[in-house]
Amino acid sequence: MGIQVCVFEGDGAAPEAVSPVIQALNDLSDIEFVHPPIEEFTDQLHNRIVPTQIEEEIQQADTVFFGAASSTHVPIIRFLRWEYGGGTFANVRPIQYLPGANSPLKEPQGIDYTIVRENLFGLYGGREGPLADLKALYAENDTSTALEDLQPGAYALRVMPEQSLKNVADFSHTLANKFSENGSVTVTSATKSNVLPETDGLFDSIIEDAVVDNTAITFEHLHADDVAHRLVTDPERFDIIVAPNFVGDFLSDLGAGTIGGLGLAPSGCYGADVAYFEPVHGTAPDIVGKDIINPTATLLSAAMMLEYLDKPSLAASITSAIKHTYENGTHLTPDQGGTASTTEFVEVVVSNI
Ligand code: NAI
Ligand code: MG
Repeated sequence: MGIQVCVFEGDGAAPEAVSPVIQALNDLSDIEFVHPPIEEFTDQLHNRIVPTQIEEEIQQADTVFFGAASSTHVPIIRFLRWEYGGGTFANVRPIQYLPGANSPLKEPQGIDYTIVRENLFGLYGGREGPLADLKALYAENDTSTALEDLQPGAYALRVMPEQSLKNVADFSHTLANKFSENGSVTVTSATKSNVLPETDGLFDSIIEDAVVDNTAITFEHLHADDVAHRLVTDPERFDIIVAPNFVGDFLSDLGAGTIGGLGLAPSGCYGADVAYFEPVHGTAPDIVGKDIINPTATLLSAAMMLEYLDKPSLAASITSAIKHTYENGTHLTPDQGGTASTTEFVEVVVSNI
C-alpha cells in the first residue's frame, strides 16, 4: 500500500489555504489523501468527542495534515496533540526569512532558526481552579502569606513531567545533530529558571544533559524575556531554541512576526512514532471567505510533512519554488503587500516547481 495522509482542513479560513495545497500535493505526488467525513459527526465533535471512525482513519494513515481549529475541529487537534501515539511532545517551528517577504525589520536577511516547543505540559495541561483549592498546599503552621488567603481569585498549574522533558530533549539533540552536518550548532534553552528554579531549572538541566555530547553542539541558557528581545535585535545568532510550552508559543509567534507574519510560519508536532503537521497560525476569522489567507505556512508545513514521509526531493522543490515566488514578488498575498489570492499564489508556486 502507498502512503496515506489523513487531512483535516480545519475551521474558519484554514480550509481556504489547506484545500489548494492538498490539491497541489495530490497532483505532484502518489500520496493518497483521505478526508474523514467530519460533517457527519458535528454533534459528537461539539460534545468534545472524537468519533471512533475518525480515530481509526487517523490511526490507519501514515501521518495527519491539519489546518487550524476554533470550533468543530478542536477535539481533533486535542486528540492529535495529547493522545495520538501517546502524545506529540515536540512542536517544531522553523523561522526562516524568505527574501521578498514583508518583514518589519530593517535587516531580516539571515534569520534562520528553529523553535522546539514542549507541546503537552507546562501551563497547557489546562488545570485551573479557585485559589481556595490551594489550601491543601500549606502546612498548618506555615506563617508565610498563604495564597489561598488572597481569594477570591484563581490559579493555573504548571507541570513538568521529567519523561516528557526527556523526550523533547532527545528530539532536540537529534535535530541539533542533523543541523551540525552544516557546521556548529547552538541549542538555547529559553526559560525563566531565575524565578522558577524547580520547573524551569529542571527543564534547562534535562535539555543540557541531552544535547551536550562533545560534538559540534553547544548548549546555552538564556532567560526567555531576553530571548524575546534578541529575536528582534539579533535573530541571526540563534540555531535551535528549546522552550516550555507557553514560552515556545509566544516566541514562535514573535519570530513569525519578524519574518513577515503568521502566514509564513509552518510547524510539525512529533511524538515517539507519529507526527502531524499544521501551520502556526489559527483560523484567521477576520479574513474568512475572502480567498486571501496566505498559504505559505501551509505549503511549508506540507514540505515538513514530505520530509517526514521520506520525500525530501519534493519537499525541497516546493520550498525552493516558494522562495522563488517571494524573490519575484509579483504574486504575493495582501499580508505581504501584494494583490494575489490564495488560489493564485498556490498556482504560481506550483508553476515554479
Ligand atoms: P490567528 O492566527 O487566527 O490570526 C491572527 C491574525 O493573523 C489575524 O489578523 C489573521 O487574519 C492573521 N493571519 C493568521 N494567519 C494568516 C495567514 N495565513 N495569512 C494572512 N493572515 C493571517 O490567531 P487568533 O486570531 O488569535 O485566533 C483565531 C482562532 O484560531 C481562535 O479560535 C484560536 O483559538 C484559534 N487558533 C488555533 C490554532 C490551531 O488550531 N493550531 C492556533 C492558534 C489559534
Ligand atoms: Mg500560538
